[in-house]
Amino acid sequence: MSNLTQNDLSRRACWAGEEPIANVLMAQTLANPNLVSLAAGFIDHETLPAETTRMAMDAIWSDPRRARAAQQYGTTVGHPPLRRLLLERMLQADGRTAAEMNVSIDQVVVTAGSNELLYLVGDTILDPGDIVLCGAPSYFVYLGTLANLGARAVGVDADDDGLVPEAVEDAIARLRGDGELERLKAIYVTSYYDNPTGATVPASRRSALVEIAKRHSGRGRIRVIEDTAYRELRYFGDDVPSVRSFDPEGDTVVTVGSFSKSFSPGVRVGWGVLPRDLVGPVLSQKGNIDFGSPNFSQYLMWTVLEMSLFDAHVRKVCAGYRSKLDTILDAADEHLGAIDGVRWVRPGGGLYVWLELPDGIDTGLSGPLFPRAVEEGVLYVPGEYCYPPEGRAVPKNMIRLSFGVPRSDEIRRGMESLARAIQKVIG
Ligand SMILES: Cc1ncc(COP(=O)(O)O)c(C=O)c1O
Repeated sequence: MSNLTQNDLSRRACWAGEEPIANVLMAQTLANPNLVSLAAGFIDHETLPAETTRMAMDAIWSDPRRARAAQQYGTTVGHPPLRRLLLERMLQADGRTAAEMNVSIDQVVVTAGSNELLYLVGDTILDPGDIVLCGAPSYFVYLGTLANLGARAVGVDADDDGLVPEAVEDAIARLRGDGELERLKAIYVTSYYDNPTGATVPASRRSALVEIAKRHSGRGRIRVIEDTAYRELRYFGDDVPSVRSFDPEGDTVVTVGSFSKSFSPGVRVGWGVLPRDLVGPVLSQKGNIDFGSPNFSQYLMWTVLEMSLFDAHVRKVCAGYRSKLDTILDAADEHLGAIDGVRWVRPGGGLYVWLELPDGIDTGLSGPLFPRAVEEGVLYVPGEYCYPPEGRAVPKNMIRLSFGVPRSDEIRRGMESLARAIQKVIG
């Protein structure tokens, strides 16, 4: 570790902190190569689109103009043909026209992964001390992003159907009572197959969240930041129109998407559809940082979409993940079903199963279960890392399990190990 002091660093750099959980899990994996990791939120290595990417690259290289353009600087906002296709796909998935959504291509921004856009939007609308309401639990990297910006992530209840609108109302009433409502700038929601809970927010809650944000907006607008990173990874049930589709004025919802889960995280292409008034300010920030996100990756994704290679790939990865989800749920039924107080929800998509253990079992790094689980041969993410620091007590008995990376036999072995570790801790 360096010997920099706080005087050497900006306040933002200090707020960023380190990545304790990622480091610990990585160190454990390196030290115990036989561990089954049900922790890493990575995607399945075996189904990464090597062949699909080669076909798209061949098409780019066979057209010298396209090949050269792909290697030139692009624009800050992103490659227009890719943005056009992204917008068309969103409208098609939502069953709406551009007029119904009051949206145009100018509002579509491409970034290097969706995390960049989540950060940029935060950087654009949040001053230190400003508040974002987040589900308790929430995607933990986003909680780090908010901490990095000096913003306050305030937790509100999330249940098997995701963020609870009544809990959002209650939190807003509390902020109003404390004279802090003006500091509330956004509500963050992972609308499809949440990380970590796997929950998908039903349509009625989507419209309620937008209505609440609009109704409580005062001099400053309260935005709904909708994270759709897992939308394409649907294994059961119907797709639900985006939260953005419940904002026909288009002034409230920022919707953020990604090719990381559906195609390849290494390609680093994310995007968003922004309210019109945020486009300029977000692009000013973005231009100062990156001069445009990697043009090469954008050409690749444009070509993949244009050649109609994307949907076939998504169908393939979904079939693989669906079978892994079946495996982990069957293994949970078999090995955990008989343990009193253990509960989980069956997600319709995504990469995670959120497990509740009996009250009093501390799943954290310094609790009894984590080292036992490592001893038995399995790694998980302690649920406590997924809770915003304010707003709601942090339960200690939750676990996030990821089924994307391990093979089915490893998933079964990992679940058996986890069950043994839980039994030993219960005694
Ligand atoms: C809910 C959620 N949002 C956003 C991201 C960021 O993905 P990327 O920056 O690769 O697009 C992730 C990655 O795990 C995620 O789980």
